[in-house]
Amino acid sequence: MAKSRIAIIVGSNRRDSINRKLARALAKLGADKFDASFVRIDDLPMFNQDLEGNLPEEAVRFKSEIANADGVLIVTPEHDRSIPALLKNAVDWGARPYGKNSWAGKPGFITGTSPGAIGSALAQQHLRSVMVGLGMILLGGEAYVTFKPNLVDEDGNIADESTRKFLQGFLDRFISLIVRLSQPEPH
Ligand SMILES: Cc1cc2nc3c(=O)[nH]c(=O)nc-3n(C[C@H](O)[C@H](O)[C@H](O)COP(=O)(O)O)c2cc1C
Repeated sequence: MAKSRIAIIVGSNRRDSINRKLARALAKLGADKFDASFVRIDDLPMFNQDLEGNLPEEAVRFKSEIANADGVLIVTPEHDRSIPALLKNAVDWGARPYGKNSWAGKPGFITGTSPGAIGSALAQQHLRSVMVGLGMILLGGEAYVTFKPNLVDEDGNIADESTRKFLQGFLDRFISLIVRLSQPEPH
């Protein structure tokens, strides 16, 4: 069976983003099960409904990359106990124009990391409620990761064994969810 195509969105535009580091490590960890492609969001203009009639080319590209993916992995930081503005902007472009919601029916897995003890939990919870409202089919469970300097090693692997196993479990369940959802419904 062909490998699943996973679009990865990182909710940070920071050069040394710890969430990008985690996202790359997840892409590596799951490389035998899925093909990952990183979807750019930092070039999307600030959402404005006036632009919906003639979508900016960056928004067209973004929406087609989501459409072509079997599932979407979102790895996000927490900003002020919520979703970073950069990511929310991308969510809005995905949701619009009315009737062209890129998220509806799309399998999704949300995770993220923060140096704080609760590892981006509140941002993830806010994002879950937004994405469920938009019709995304989210993987259950809570994948909050506290970032420590040695979490990802120099080769881009998740160094801590228990964290690696924890996240591997999520990736495995995410791929199972995608495969199950792609099967025709019994009559
Ligand atoms: C505007 C702003 C708000 C932040 N708010 C939170 C927060 O609510 N909770 C938290 O754990 N960390 C917070 N942080 C710290 C981030 O977790 C930290 O900057 C982290 O490196 C961001 O992820 P990134 O490196 O992938 O961009 C905040 C950082 C910024 C810049």
